[in-house]
Amino acid sequence: MNNIAIFASGTGSNFLAIHQAIKEKTLNASISLFVSDKPNSVSAKMALELGLNVYIFNSKSYKNKKEYEVEILQKLRQENITLIVLAGYMKIIGKTILDEYERRIINIHPSLLPLYKGKDAIAQAYNDNALKTGVTIHYVDKGIDTGDIISQEEIKIDPEYSLSDIEREIHKVEHSLYSKTIQKLS
Ligand code: GAR
Repeated sequence: MNNIAIFASGTGSNFLAIHQAIKEKTLNASISLFVSDKPNSVSAKMALELGLNVYIFNSKSYKNKKEYEVEILQKLRQENITLIVLAGYMKIIGKTILDEYERRIINIHPSLLPLYKGKDAIAQAYNDNALKTGVTIHYVDKGIDTGDIISQEEIKIDPEYSLSDIEREIHKVEHSLYSKTIQKLS
């Protein structure tokens, strides 16, 4: 059973889906820490409302990435975190955390990697008139969206789909695939 730290910067729908799966006991794990660089994000507000152990930092108050990651690492150690789950976390994980949590950090990305890496992956597929896209869950390494793939699920893109139709279909898959994949890593 994994003891999870969720890292999120955005709307937190994946975080909420994981939290829900634990509550409904379809995922055997615990969330002992929530980390965010965005105090006003929906995800951070949600984590506080859920009464989780929340750590929020402002990266601009530190000299460099190492300084704030050393602090995060202390929290991860204090809580005996076994798996870091990135759920819309928009900062790149640096060497400090990567070295201690090698192959114990996972990320969700809204494309069939290695296609459409980086930002706005859903829009990249849409603008490319792709006939399919999907969701990838992968280990985090020092590259951007380059780590070993753990699971993937494909979505067919109907040529009539708008960008928001594709976003809706992607999120539907994300919300079930992330918990199922974490369960397999237990
Ligand atoms: C998700 O679609 C996730 O795949 C994407 O951010 C969204 C976060 O949504 N991540 C990336 O693009 C990482 N490169 P959420 O805040 O509602 O979970």
